[in-house]
Amino acid sequence: MRIFSGIQPTGRKHLGNYIGAILQYVEGQDRGDPAIYCIVDLHATTVGYDPAELRRRSQETAALLVAAGLDPERCVLFRQGDVPEHTELSWLLSSVTPLGALNRMHQFRDKSVAQRELVSAGLLFYPVLMAADVLAYRAHEVPVGEDQREHIELMRDVAETFNKRFGETLVVPEGNIPKVGARVRDLQEPERKMSTTGGTPKGTVYVDEDPASIVKKFKSAQTDSGNEIVRREDKPGIANLIEILAIVRGTTPEEIEREYSGPQRYGDFKTTVGEEVAASLAPVRERYAELQGDTATIEDILAAGAQKAQALAAPVVADVREAMGVGPALRRSVGGAA
Ligand code: AMP
Ligand code: TRP
Repeated sequence: MRIFSGIQPTGRKHLGNYIGAILQYVEGQDRGDPAIYCIVDLHATTVGYDPAELRRRSQETAALLVAAGLDPERCVLFRQGDVPEHTELSWLLSSVTPLGALNRMHQFRDKSVAQRELVSAGLLFYPVLMAADVLAYRAHEVPVGEDQREHIELMRDVAETFNKRFGETLVVPEGNIPKVGARVRDLQEPERKMSTTGGTPKGTVYVDEDPASIVKKFKSAQTDSGNEIVRREDKPGIANLIEILAIVRGTTPEEIEREYSGPQRYGDFKTTVGEEVAASLAPVRERYAELQGDTATIEDILAAGAQKAQALAAPVVADVREAMGVGPALRRSVGGAA
């Protein structure tokens, strides 16, 4: 089972990224053959950004993933821009990607409205590069949060269309969206997902945030004025806290509801969730603080990861070129002869 996922090096990583994605990455290391995780710096160039900051954030994101439990010996951890096969494949795949589908992507629509200056062609092309990321490794499973569902559908369509047009070449991947925690909500505005760009500062909890500040944010989380700890549609704030606590404790939301059945004080519940989240993130924060400044070590890890990644992606891209008739015919050695 080959696993692939990508994470953007934009902004500080928050509890939504941690629960929706990073915990899945860590778990995938033992199942993945291999598990491949990519810091997608090229995706981050599709909206306005600062070059020096992008480089620093890419290193920080790598450090955070290692601090969260990714072991470069047990997975492939690399930076997208270090492996040119991704960009080459995205061009090749663009010939089987319908323009209309790209135009309809929700993320493209939302992000293009938010751009104050340039709506780049790169923003429209974002899902093609993402498809290339996964298809270049013939990955089977793609762990992501709920907001990536549409992008996963598109990459499946691209792989299927490619195989129909040029012959069986690519693996059609499956998304792995967790049942609980795939859409962690903003603590202040629980109708919205937690997000560095679209959320509220007080409602967004960062993975590297100090414990006292985490507890404070949970204490002031928006809930209704009831006293039941249940997941109901009219209780998005409480439902969010139940799911977060379930993940942090490694149990189910049903179990949390059972434990807190009967009238409860929401203030006490919020404090409990805040303290347990802070405690579970504390070791990640400590390891991150140690690693973060050590750019040389991080760059070594990324360079070794890029080598392993390229060794996997290059033969797949060669097959794609071959199937499409791009470049000279492949000379495969049969029985030792060229
Ligand atoms: P990004 O930082 O946009 O690259 O997102 C990295 C991963 O985190 C992706 O798999 C997203 O689907 C996931 N993610 C982002 N926000 C949330 C959220 N609020 N809840 C759950 N997962 C999320
Ligand atoms: N688009 C994803 C996000 O915003 C990041 C990403 C890029 C990705 N390439 C990927 C995720 C490949 C999974 C697989 O979160």
